[in-house]
Amino acid sequence: MPEALRRLTLDDLRPQSGDAVAGPLALSALAGWNQTAADWRRLLLDSPDGCFGIACDGNIVGTVTTTRYGQQLGWIGMMLVHPDYRRRGLATRLMQAAIDHLRDQDVATIRLDATPQGRPLYERLGFRLDHSWTRTSSEPAVALPGDGRSDERTALQEMEVDRTERNPDDQPALSESLLAADRLALGADRSAMLRRLAADSKLACHSNGYAMLRPGRTAWYLGPVMATDTEVAISLIRRLLASQPGPFLWDVPGDNPSAANMAQTLGFSPIRTLYRMSLDDTPPRVFAANQPDRLFAIADPALG
Ligand SMILES: CC(C)(COP(=O)(O)OP(=O)(O)OC[C@H]1O[C@@H](n2cnc3c(N)ncnc32)[C@H](O)[C@@H]1OP(=O)(O)O)[C@@H](O)C(=O)NCCC(=O)NCCS
Repeated sequence: MPEALRRLTLDDLRPQSGDAVAGPLALSALAGWNQTAADWRRLLLDSPDGCFGIACDGNIVGTVTTTRYGQQLGWIGMMLVHPDYRRRGLATRLMQAAIDHLRDQDVATIRLDATPQGRPLYERLGFRLDHSWTRTSSEPAVALPGDGRSDERTALQEMEVDRTERNPDDQPALSESLLAADRLALGADRSAMLRRLAADSKLACHSNGYAMLRPGRTAWYLGPVMATDTEVAISLIRRLLASQPGPFLWDVPGDNPSAANMAQTLGFSPIRTLYRMSLDDTPPRVFAANQPDRLFAIADPALG
């Protein structure tokens, strides 16, 4: 039966009959990705018209999502095709639908994070490399605040971390001033996505920064993290890592060298390189964060 492209809906997240490896969640798990049903649900809720799937015999065998951050930035994620359906042009069709959708919204720049497998596909479609970044992981052996190193204890007290807690779903989690600082750091408005993410995350906030940690399929995922300086960032991150036994994943931005140093200090090791790419439009309008030194962890490869 021919494969049909259509919009993804929340109904597609229901377990599908008969085939254990079909459907969005099964596709991301099959690829070894860390996203959960909650991650998929947020993507679909953020962009109900902008997530696409290809159905074959009633099963979703390919997916792509888009997320828009104001007019400045459109993000493409969750580009997945079931192994049995690859090399038939499905990803190319899905990408074209995602690009067309974002162009219809008139976003200035279209961007994504590519795996080595996805990179040639995106290059054929006109995406160009901005920079590479590193996925790092940590088993539980992270030095925690209060574990006997007095300098860390003092630093944490000085930071006066306001809170670390799971947020009730109906409560705004991030202050307007932190959202404004994030907007300035990124150069685009991702407030709606951050609020949704915070509702599903452990959140550590300080007047000069925030950090989030959320459950993943295989590991706790650290990010996003935004802070005006490294001292605030490291205290917030330590606080979150102390709240869970791990393991943890931390996607370290390639345009903030102090984030890489911090990850190493906290015992995280690189496990793979990924590629941040932008669609090379005419005239080129390449997006760059206003203050990359304030962004210490990305939100998710599917979100930037
Ligand atoms: C990357 C991925 C999405 C590509 O999906 P796909 O549907 O196989 O992609 P396409 O079919 O559109 O293109 C792949 C190749 O098949 C070729 N192709 C397309 N239609 C074809 C056809 N009818 N017959 C033969 N080859 C074809 C394309 O030219 C392309 O060739 P190239 O790799 O030499 O450039 C898929 O491999 C995947 O899900 N990988 C795991 C998850 C992942 O890494 N995703 C990317 C995240 S950034």
